[in-house]
Amino acid sequence: MRERVAAVWGTVRYLLVGALTGLVSLVLLPFMLVSLLVARPTALRLLHDWAGRERVRVAAFTGAPIPEPAPPERVWDARNDVAWLVVHGLTGTVVGLLGFALPASAVNAVLVPFYWWAVPEDDPVTSPYPVTSWLGAAFMPLVAVGYALLSLWFVPWLGRLQSRAARALLSPPAGARLAMRVAELTASRAAALEAHGAELRRIERDLHDGTQNKLVAVAMHLGIVERALRRDPAAALPMVLTAQDAVSDALSGLRGVVRSIYPPVLSERGLDGAVAGLIASSGVPCALTVTDLRRAPAAVESAAYFVVAEALTNVAKHSGATRCEVRLSATDHLLLDVWDDGHGGADEEHGTGLAGIRRRVTAFDGTMTLDSPVGGPTTLRVTLPLGG
Ligand SMILES: Nc1ncnc2c1ncn2[C@@H]1O[C@H](COP(=O)(O)OP(=O)(O)OP(=O)(O)O)[C@@H](O)[C@H]1O
Ligand SMILES: [Mg+2]
Repeated sequence: MRERVAAVWGTVRYLLVGALTGLVSLVLLPFMLVSLLVARPTALRLLHDWAGRERVRVAAFTGAPIPEPAPPERVWDARNDVAWLVVHGLTGTVVGLLGFALPASAVNAVLVPFYWWAVPEDDPVTSPYPVTSWLGAAFMPLVAVGYALLSLWFVPWLGRLQSRAARALLSPPAGARLAMRVAELTASRAAALEAHGAELRRIERDLHDGTQNKLVAVAMHLGIVERALRRDPAAALPMVLTAQDAVSDALSGLRGVVRSIYPPVLSERGLDGAVAGLIASSGVPCALTVTDLRRAPAAVESAAYFVVAEALTNVAKHSGATRCEVRLSATDHLLLDVWDDGHGGADEEHGTGLAGIRRRVTAFDGTMTLDSPVGGPTTLRVTLPLGG
């Protein structure tokens, strides 16, 4: 019930703002129609911005974003926005005031018993009948309940009506949506190639500078050992030991490189187990919440693992947090949140870690959002498509 009332209150606010924007749209309407004929570019831009605001408003109200079409170049491209302006201009105000009137009448009906006697007798309170006696006033709370019940049903219906109409008119047409999707996929393919190239270069560097150099040193040691063996086998022993150490060193370097390609812990313990391992060694106390997780393609799991690893390193290094939380869940996307109660102010431009996360995630056609106001808290949210 409390949720229902909160939803009605949210809808009333939405409809009231809609009443205002409806009024503005109504005033704008004749000017817009004329200026679309005489001053096209400016009018098109203005209309695109005004409709864009409504897209954001409807998205905030319904929780589902409306894709933003490219700015129109011809009046024909803006036909949907014009249709919305006409509909919203003509109905927005009325719908908004209707949505406000019912709950307001309920509140008024509750108050009538307290003030009906102060109202002039020849012009009594009339909602829905003239209140001219205490008996009439006594029934008002019942009327209030009636209005309230009606509001609970009618106001959400009005909100749905207005937001659905706006969504239908303001969503880009299917063709344009397809073009936008193609552009997105082209960008994510370019990012995938770029990320793949960067990863190959990194592995090549790690193998070249680390493992290869160490193995070269081992080969040199073995050459020295060979010569020593010919001359004085006893003196060769410490050199064999040195060569053995060098091999162990090269091996552990190689293991590091392998782990950086695909952490074995992922195949052994799954993403949740691997993340639990990261959390256990995190410097800041951290909680893990896992809901409905299922196995994802290895590349996706490994990307998610590196995202959490970098995010937790950042929390420990920069945030000054006392607590952090990692949330993992999966629907058709793998969703991961890393939250900390630190001082915030994270900035992608100031390092390579966060920018690297974005590159990795974009390569999978996923999304990354960073919310880190100065003063905190910080939330890093990443979604990765699971495919299939
Ligand atoms: N959780 C956080 N809380 C507060 N500030 C943060 C947080 N994460 C990152 N930052 C800030 O954002 C900046 C960028 O982070 P990023 O991870 O990109 O780089 P970095 O950690 O400094 O270096 P590296 O390239 O080694 O990751 C950091 O320098 C830090 O100031
Ligand atoms: Mg970092």
